[in-house]
Amino acid sequence: MSTIVVVGLQWGDEGKGKITDYLASEAELVVRYQGGNNAGHTVVVDDQEFKLHLIPSGILYPGTLCVLGNGVVINPGVLLKELNGLKQRGIDVSGIRISDRAHVIMPYHPSLDQLDESSRTVGKIGTTGRGIGPAYVDKFARYDSIRVLDLLNAERLKERLQEILITKNKILSQIYGHPGFALNVILDEYLEYAEQLRPMVCDTSVLINQEIKKGKKVLFEGAQGTLLDIDHGTYPFVSSSSPSAGGACTGTGVGPTKINKVVGVIKAYSTRVGEGPFPTELADEMLSQLRDGRGREYGVTTGRPRRCGWFDGVIAEYSVRVNGVSDLVVMKLDVLDQMKTIKICNGYRYGNSIIKEFPGDLDVLAKCTPVYEEVPGWMTDTTGCKTFAELPAAAQNYLRRIEELAQAPISIVSVGWKRDETIIIRNIW
Ligand code: GDP
Ligand code: IMO
Ligand code: MG
Repeated sequence: MSTIVVVGLQWGDEGKGKITDYLASEAELVVRYQGGNNAGHTVVVDDQEFKLHLIPSGILYPGTLCVLGNGVVINPGVLLKELNGLKQRGIDVSGIRISDRAHVIMPYHPSLDQLDESSRTVGKIGTTGRGIGPAYVDKFARYDSIRVLDLLNAERLKERLQEILITKNKILSQIYGHPGFALNVILDEYLEYAEQLRPMVCDTSVLINQEIKKGKKVLFEGAQGTLLDIDHGTYPFVSSSSPSAGGACTGTGVGPTKINKVVGVIKAYSTRVGEGPFPTELADEMLSQLRDGRGREYGVTTGRPRRCGWFDGVIAEYSVRVNGVSDLVVMKLDVLDQMKTIKICNGYRYGNSIIKEFPGDLDVLAKCTPVYEEVPGWMTDTTGCKTFAELPAAAQNYLRRIEELAQAPISIVSVGWKRDETIIIRNIW
């Protein structure tokens, strides 16, 4: 049995796509367990860049089964477009499997998401506008959600939608002045999607567990990150799902006893897109040094510039703890190559005390100021380094300090977006 959960330890965009693709070269199954097309995972193969939103980042290896688990919310139109886009680029997409229990993003979900955000003057979350929150609200409220198995049953879909649209159209028109959605228009569109998706739908819990029993390697690919987790993130500035490692079990129907390793993906600095607290955020010229240049810190899904800041050791320790991380993967070390000095946050000053544990109360967090230690940069191009020993001494020291603060060992260091710009310290499989 060999199963790995890949989880982001910050606010998303840590480089999960690159590492999932890297580990997927040995995996038979790659499984998404939560989120939807709010995710944007980049994989670079030679001079080709792939931006994946719903399709697992194992898709570039022919023959790999790529599963969308029950915990994912699926926009069928987006999924089919992504599949066709990959097909046109010569990628084999025959390995896609979709959980019959996954919930479906309907046309009113993105509308409600965007209208809700734009109607608020305070408390905006800065969502991706893809309908993720409203879809999960319907899932958990239970009355108004459509699952993939409902989509495949034309009669049931019509019956359910008829009922659901009464409430949705009332909310849309009476609160937001939106014209609402017509039953037949949605039915025509979604029944067509259903026929295209039908051959890919199955009970994916049965499939994954069978493969695990056979001793196959299974990779669970988290989207978003721990600080965007509905329970463990900077609530309410979070997404509506469970990206942290526990979500891999509930989101796929695989029990915790079947998970071997949890790989925590963390950038050598910090970024965040959207609203919400960010203790080590930078606002000066350092910001553009991280965002522009090799950092390329612009959102894959929405194109928004990412907020950037120094590495936060309090967050690293917190995320390692709530995920039970066994291996750390440090990404984008090369982005720091030209920094004369680098700051690392090793605690928060709150009033007269120093906090080492990430606070749950955002009012407390707002009053926290990072305590920094300053270390020398290495002022050397690391993109060509193939082993840990080849890294400049200052870079090695920086990584050792990250391990100390996070309290987990580093197994991989990434020094560029390409597949071969990857330093393996320890084989994770
Ligand atoms: P994900 O959502 O966690 O998969 O991450 P994104 O794809 O949204 O953002 C990561 C970005 O960093 C992408 O543009 C990657 O191509 C790029 N990237 C990944 N690893 C490295 C690295 O080690 N160095 C640099 N410079 N870029 C990287
Ligand atoms: P990947 O998988 C970074 C952020 C949004 C917003 C908040 C809620 O590429 O790491 P949502 O649309 O999910 O309701 O938005 O979460 N967000 C992400 N930020 N990377 C992501 O995914 C994200 N998915 C959602 O910017 O702040
Ligand atoms: Mg991303």
